[in-house]
Amino acid sequence: MAVDAAEFRRCMRDVAGAVAVITCGQDGMRTGLTATAVCSLTDQPPMLLACVNSTASAHAVIRETGRFAVNILSDAHLPVANRFAGRDGSKGETRFSDARWVRLEDGAPVLAEAMASFDCLLEAEHCHGSHSIFVGRVQAVAASGDGRPLLYHAGRFGTFQEPLAVL
Ligand SMILES: Cc1cc2nc3c(=O)[nH]c(=O)nc-3n(C[C@H](O)[C@H](O)[C@H](O)COP(=O)(O)O)c2cc1C
Repeated sequence: MAVDAAEFRRCMRDVAGAVAVITCGQDGMRTGLTATAVCSLTDQPPMLLACVNSTASAHAVIRETGRFAVNILSDAHLPVANRFAGRDGSKGETRFSDARWVRLEDGAPVLAEAMASFDCLLEAEHCHGSHSIFVGRVQAVAASGDGRPLLYHAGRFGTFQEPLAVL
C-alpha cells in the first residue's frame, strides 16, 4: 500500500537528528540553512552528503560556487539554528551577524565555535523531487569538541543528556 506524505512526515518526526547549518557563498553574498538531512558518506576519501530543497536560497549558490560547509551545532547555537531556518525573518548575509565566522582553505564560511565543521567541494548532485543530494568532498575540518550536540526531535530542539549506563 502506498504511504502518503503526511504519514511519512509523521514517522520522520520520531527520528532524532543532529542539527547542522549548511553555509555557502563569498563575503557579502553568503547564505545558508539549518539542516538535519546531512550524513557521512565515505571516509576514504572523506565525503558527506547534504539534502537541500531546491527552493532554499543556498541551493543555487552551492551549484554556482561548487562549495559548501557543514557546521554541526551545539546547544549554545540554538539562536543560530533558528536564524538559519528563517524563523526570525532574516535572509542571506544578515543571518551571519550574531556569530563568528571564519574560512578554512579559502572555502565556504565556517562557524568558529561549531562542534565540528566540514569544508567541502561539490563532487556531485543528485536531484530527487523537491531536493538535491549534494555530495561533498571534504577539504578541511575543524572541531571545537565543546558543548552538547543540538538535536531536533518531534518538532522541537533539545540536547543529549546523560549517556545510558553500559551493562
Ligand atoms: C530542524 C530543521 C531542520 C531542517 N532541515 C532541512 C534540511 O535538511 N534540508 C533543507 O533543505 N531544509 C531544511 N530545513 C528548512 C530550512 O532550514 C529553511 O527552509 C530555510 O529557511 C531555507 O533557507 P532560505 O530561507 O534561505 O531559503 C530545516 C529546518 C529546521 C528547523
